[in-house]
Amino acid sequence: MKRRTSSIAASRRTMLKGLAAGTAVIGGIVPARFAIGQAAKIKLGLMLPYTGTYAALGKNIDEALRLAINEQGGKLGGREVEYVVLDDESEPAKGAENANKLVARDKVDFLVGTVHSGVAMAMVKVATDNDTMLIIPNAGVDAATGPACAPNIFRTSFSNWQPGFAMGKVAGGRGQKRAVAVSWDYAAGHESVNGFKEGFAAGGGKVEKELFLPFPQVEFQAILTEIASLKPELVYTFFAGGGAVKFVKDYAAAGLKTAVPLVGAGFLTDGTLEAQGEAAQGLETTLHYADGLDLPKDKAFRAAFKNAAKRDADVYAVQGYDTGQLLVAGLAAVKGDAKARKELVAAMEKAEIDSPRGKFTLSKAHNPVQDMYLRKVQGLENRVESVAVKALADPARGCKMV
Ligand code: BEZ
Repeated sequence: MKRRTSSIAASRRTMLKGLAAGTAVIGGIVPARFAIGQAAKIKLGLMLPYTGTYAALGKNIDEALRLAINEQGGKLGGREVEYVVLDDESEPAKGAENANKLVARDKVDFLVGTVHSGVAMAMVKVATDNDTMLIIPNAGVDAATGPACAPNIFRTSFSNWQPGFAMGKVAGGRGQKRAVAVSWDYAAGHESVNGFKEGFAAGGGKVEKELFLPFPQVEFQAILTEIASLKPELVYTFFAGGGAVKFVKDYAAAGLKTAVPLVGAGFLTDGTLEAQGEAAQGLETTLHYADGLDLPKDKAFRAAFKNAAKRDADVYAVQGYDTGQLLVAGLAAVKGDAKARKELVAAMEKAEIDSPRGKFTLSKAHNPVQDMYLRKVQGLENRVESVAVKALADPARGCKMV
């Protein structure tokens, strides 16, 4: 009730300012022009990790998002953009406080974030409580487009279930039967492993043991010793960022790489290959992005990102760019009036995003319906081998909008 009152009050203030400036109110949409010749800026609250094991991921999302908006003259729906940036440190305990700062103190029009599933769930709660628009540019936490789905919550990346399920289908389809799963002990790790188990079971495979360690720990020795004694046919993993670099190197150094094939959700080898070197060569993973897709959009994006950021794009950059593209589509439809919520949400729901990963649409739960690629590391690339699962939609279990 309180939330509704304050949003009505905010719309009223906007309307009064608009009327004072002599602008017309058409069909309930108040043009966001507050004084002649001067439009208020759209405020984007970027809550991302800029430090810690996921720092490189957050940085790529940030820079690629700005690239997409800069390609539109730096404007959204005709309005200049103000970025409010906050380092969430991938720290779930500070998630709610940080998101609240952006909503209550900075009064952002959109929350954009984050990478870590646990932090993202804190953002989902704040966005839900305050009826603030939220776009998730990475974190795959299933609940965000599952039981916690809502009209104001969108995701441009993936659900943790999606790449895991695809890898399970690939392994099961190869007739493999006995796997061990290894990951960090938080939502992303468990949900990724669950997706793998589901896809693997469809082909008659079974995960015989799940091994977890606390995020962001990288002391893998005990786990590697256990894998060596269990002797599974393959090991499935979810690791990303700095942790993925260390795991892949340690796995090879333990002599396991040739004995037990290592596979994973593609974060294991995306944005990490330079640091992983020889240890990553030949590894197979599944993801909604790959090298060698041969799409004009991908080629243009990679060139533009390299020019802007002075480094190569990866899946995180793609997701940041597509977050920018979704904002562009939504705000163009309402001519920059972020308060025209119904029309804004409708436009975002029906947007077809021309992504470097290939075109995608959003499901009713607001998660990408997208191809999952099987990739293999060759040199510094995750080369596409095939489409592992075409147009894969997250099951969105528990989402009331489905
Ligand atoms: C997650 O926490 O959801 C996540 C983090 C890094 C890469 C992919 C997913």
